[in-house]
Amino acid sequence: MQKDLTSLLRDPNLIPSEKQNLLSEITAQTETLGMPCYVVGGFVRDLLLGQPINDLDIVVEGDAIALGKSLVEKYGGNLTPHYKFHTAIWDLPSSFNLYPSSLDLITARSETYSQPGALPTIKPSTIEDDLRRRDFTINAMAIRLDGSHFGELLDPLNGQADLEEKAIRVLHPRSFIDDPTRIFRAVRYEQRYSFILHSSSFTLISPESLAVIQTLSGERIRHELDLIFEEDNSHQMIVRLGELDVFKWIHPELRAFNGEYSDFLEMDTSLDVPASRTTMGYMLWLMDLSEAAILSIARRLNFSSDLTHSVWGASQLKKSLPFLVNSKPSVWAFALEKLPLLSIYAVYLVSGEKALLDYLSFWRHVKSHTTGDDLKARGLEPGPRYGEILTKLRAAWLDGEVNSEKEEKELLNRLL
Ligand code: CTP
Repeated sequence: MQKDLTSLLRDPNLIPSEKQNLLSEITAQTETLGMPCYVVGGFVRDLLLGQPINDLDIVVEGDAIALGKSLVEKYGGNLTPHYKFHTAIWDLPSSFNLYPSSLDLITARSETYSQPGALPTIKPSTIEDDLRRRDFTINAMAIRLDGSHFGELLDPLNGQADLEEKAIRVLHPRSFIDDPTRIFRAVRYEQRYSFILHSSSFTLISPESLAVIQTLSGERIRHELDLIFEEDNSHQMIVRLGELDVFKWIHPELRAFNGEYSDFLEMDTSLDVPASRTTMGYMLWLMDLSEAAILSIARRLNFSSDLTHSVWGASQLKKSLPFLVNSKPSVWAFALEKLPLLSIYAVYLVSGEKALLDYLSFWRHVKSHTTGDDLKARGLEPGPRYGEILTKLRAAWLDGEVNSEKEEKELLNRLL
């Protein structure tokens, strides 16, 4: 089915007018420089699906860095060129009023892989070659923007037919071996759009290509998993990765995601807890593993220390719940206060332990009126006694032994 691309490109429901304006400015500049200019990849895929586009994926047949420099000269902003890749990131001037506020400018290029899983070697080339280096047919289309070519679709690999067939199909048999992150990407698109990995591509997810996952850096695998946890259907995606036997190649102790936890990937943001879908995803996935397995997986996936602390904290808390149940609020509060709030929230979700919710909602905010300055004013020498006294006062509030400022003062008098 032939779509009228010029009207899709001008549809403000698919491409907000600020982004359309930016595209026009860039295209005008490429015309001045005599460079054919295209939008590619996810932009074209989502436009043809009639879905709002996210990123502007722009490719020029010509020097993207020279284009970037001329755009900065004309409109301002900052340019970060990557000479090795012939690309540039343009931090847009605030006048464009756009989010995200930066843009990748890419030179059409061909890619070769020196060895499976390695990053490719690239060479400036034609748009056709650029499309042929890509992951799936549905991501290997371009729409030309400059001059009288505005709205022309380039689809040398029949991506449009696959879009209509709802098929994810790689471009050549070595695709997953060259770049096994495409296995994660295939799963993401499959579940996001309710598409099916075409049988000819499915068979290419073989032991040979899966084994290359072992050679990928932790950073690259984690990036793919992060993207999955940011999606609405992340649970189905993780399940699908499990069906494809991916986990053991990431780490021998990685297990399936516990289906009973899947609803908790959707976070209730009404609680005043800093939300992160990715951190929640990793916590729910890993918290029931042993401490040693968690730390080893965290190293393999190059987790930040914060993320490791969150997952480890959730796991430790879950394991210590039986010892805390029926404790006084102050015992809970002092046990919980060194843990990330999100870890506590995750364990609340999976356990339903009400004390954890009480802590998140109320107890963590309870403090004594007395401060260190008050103790100093009362003539107490600074030292560890300060902490002890303030802790006792706070515990008394938490446990309901003190209910007014006056009662707190009386307790303080007894303690001093
Ligand atoms: N690409 C690829 N192989 C990869 C990563 C990316 O071929 N391993 C190509 C695809 O053509 C993709 C484009 O680069 O469309 C841009 O990549 P990315 O921004 O990751 O994906 P999008 O297509 O924009 O999709 P998403 O909606 O998931 O961001």
